[in-house]
Amino acid sequence: MNISIAIDGPCGAGKSTVALAVAERLGGHYLDTGAMYRAVGLYMLSLGIEPSDAEKVPEALKDCLVDVTYDEENRQHTLLNGRDVSGEIRTPEVSMAASAVGTVKAVRVTLVARQRELAGRMFLVCDGRDIGTCVIPDALLKIYLTASPEERARRRLAQLNDPSATFEKVLEDVNKRDYNDMHRAESPLTQAEDAVVVDTTHMDFDQVVETVTKLYEQRRKR
Ligand code: DC
Repeated sequence: MNISIAIDGPCGAGKSTVALAVAERLGGHYLDTGAMYRAVGLYMLSLGIEPSDAEKVPEALKDCLVDVTYDEENRQHTLLNGRDVSGEIRTPEVSMAASAVGTVKAVRVTLVARQRELAGRMFLVCDGRDIGTCVIPDALLKIYLTASPEERARRRLAQLNDPSATFEKVLEDVNKRDYNDMHRAESPLTQAEDAVVVDTTHMDFDQVVETVTKLYEQRRKR
């Protein structure tokens, strides 16, 4: 049994901030797998390759090395061919590209292998779309973190800090990414059978972190 925690769910549900806080509380590493898909998306955009192109993306992937490292504060840095792209990958354009490259099988196979390798050698609180169902199916605790699309769009808008962004556009992107992530042929976003659903629509951040941490502590005692 792997002692890691798998947190899956749709975009904007708060997976990354919750996973980071839980990892800090429990003394593990937070692995943001979305950042790895974002790095691949950024790479394809930089080459002018359509991120969902099932022929060109696997070909270009051969020269696209994605890695993660942790700094002294235990923060993840995402490296693309050795370059730290942690900041660059946080744009709406790269979000869409990440969602698109996530539909390409070769991308998933490559990134999942790397994620499993990391999970095999450290205690991870790992977030993504396929962590409990595919990457760490034997995780000690699986969480499906969700919230209504409107609430997720509202949170995303606040995070974006972009005066030109509108709620309607962000909600449209949320719905589009949900559709992509849930309907792709390769590892679509689904709830693992043994996942605990945590709906954060009416919860504040501390309540969510507390809920996940308590669930984990209960599991460890079993
Ligand atoms: O978690 P995020 O928003 O940074 O993820 C960006 C995109 O990457 C998301 O829309 C789908 C894809 N992704 C994935 O397919 N599988 C994962 N484990 C994580 C992210």
